[in-house]
Amino acid sequence: MHSIAIDGPAGAGKSTLARRLAKELGYIYVDTGAMYRAIGLYALRAGADPADRAAVEPMLPEISLRLENQAGEQKIFLNGEDVSAAIRAEQVGMAASAVAAIPAVRAFLLELQRGMARAQNVLMDGRDIGTVILPDASVKIFLTASPEARARRRWLENQAKGIEEAYETVLEDVKKRDYQDSHRAAAPLRQAEDAVRVDTSELDFEQSFEALKKIVAEKLG
Ligand code: DC
Repeated sequence: MHSIAIDGPAGAGKSTLARRLAKELGYIYVDTGAMYRAIGLYALRAGADPADRAAVEPMLPEISLRLENQAGEQKIFLNGEDVSAAIRAEQVGMAASAVAAIPAVRAFLLELQRGMARAQNVLMDGRDIGTVILPDASVKIFLTASPEARARRRWLENQAKGIEEAYETVLEDVKKRDYQDSHRAAAPLRQAEDAVRVDTSELDFEQSFEALKKIVAEKLG
C-alpha cells in the first residue's frame, strides 16, 4: 500500500489540490478535516461548548463516522446522516479547531484514519498526517502559503458566494485558526522533518498542482 500525506494550514489550497491529485493517481482521497468538523458539528448540535473536554469526551462513543466516495466526491456521514454540506459552515470550522485540541478526539480518529490507510492506497490531507497518523507515508508534503495569500483566497471565495466580509476580518480569522492549530499540546500543526515544503503564495492552481505532481513522481518513481 502507498500513502501520501499532505499537511498544512487552512487555505493553502490543500483540499482542492489533494482531491485532484488523488483522482489522477487513482488513490482514495481522505479529508481528515471533515472528520474533526463532523465531531464539532455533533458537539454544537448537542448544545455543548466544543472546547469543553468534559462535555465532548463522553459524546465520542455516540459518534459513528463513515466516509464514502460517490462519483469522485467524498461524502461524510455522521450517525448515518450525510453532513458533507453542513460541516462547511464557518462556525463548524471553528468548532472543529476546538475539538481537535482534545487528545481523546485525536485518539478516536487516529485509529479510524490508520485503518483506512491499511486497506487501500490513500491520499490523506490534514494537519498531523505526516507527523502522527502515517509516519511511514510514501510521500509527505507540507503545503503552505502566507496568511495574507490565504486570507485573500478565502475573501475572493466569499465574494463569489455573495458573502460580504472585510478582508481584515478574514485575515484575523486565518491567523487565529493558525495559532490555535499550531499551539495546541496534542499533535500541533507542524512540518514533518521528511516532508517536502511547497509554498503556494505566489503560485496559481495549475502551478501548485504541477509542483505536487513532480514531488510525487520523484518519490514514487
Ligand atoms: O482542514 P479543515 O479546515 O477542514 O480542518 C478543520 C479543523 O480540524 C482545523 O482547524 C484543524 C483540525 N484538524 C486537525 O487538527 N487535524 C487534522 N488532521 C485535520 C484537521
